[in-house]
Amino acid sequence: MSGKQYAVIAGSGFRSFGNDSAGITVSTSFGNPSGPIRELQYDDHIVYLLLRHGDELLIPPHAINYRANMKALQQLETDCVIAMNTVGVISSNIHPGQVVVPDQLIDYTWGRNHSIYEGVEKLEHIDLTNPFSEHLRQEVLKAARHSGVSVHNGGVYAVTQGPRLETAAEVDRLERDGVDYVGMTAMPEAALARELGMDYACLSLVVNYAAGRGEKSIHADIEASTITAKMQAMKVLRVFFGVMEE
Ligand code: HPA
Repeated sequence: MSGKQYAVIAGSGFRSFGNDSAGITVSTSFGNPSGPIRELQYDDHIVYLLLRHGDELLIPPHAINYRANMKALQQLETDCVIAMNTVGVISSNIHPGQVVVPDQLIDYTWGRNHSIYEGVEKLEHIDLTNPFSEHLRQEVLKAARHSGVSVHNGGVYAVTQGPRLETAAEVDRLERDGVDYVGMTAMPEAALARELGMDYACLSLVVNYAAGRGEKSIHADIEASTITAKMQAMKVLRVFFGVMEE
């Protein structure tokens, strides 16, 4: 590994991931993160793990304390954050069960605390032209190549407010906007990571066709695809943290 401190934020579908490891309780000036931050041991280094929706997966996307989550990781001196999340797919060449590493995003969320700045400290207008760290994206893609998992490189991730899924007309609009995948959590995570000086990239699990695009119901898609996508993502992570000694 590079000597950098890595963290993984895992989303729905990862309830048991890391649950038997020691958890660190971290509090921040923004309140408490979603749960204890666990330490995953890989050879001679540790990787922090935070379950975004809490241990019981009860915290919905619009109610997550994103600022506390990201600040807690920064307090632990995290350099790089790999965010695992699930998405619905709009792009016709990508299918449920696959894994993607987006390179752009559009934020459709509202009412979330999306900045560390509260008017009392010197403000920096962060440059979010490229919302994901290209270096970290390439590291993830390299791990994917080494693991033999076919991961789609790039695409626009739309972040919707949730917790409800979209209407078919909303998905049509997202497509007109140039969106490839739709999920609920990459913002404000990406912007907060940039404000806090951490690299951030998504490893997104495609678990359904977006509303109005599939033959089956969205929940039938999710049921059928989540395990496949999760296994692919875990394979990539295993190579990322275990084998990539360079
Ligand atoms: N829309 C928004 N978020 C999601 C979806 C979706 O279709 N699937 C998984 N997360």
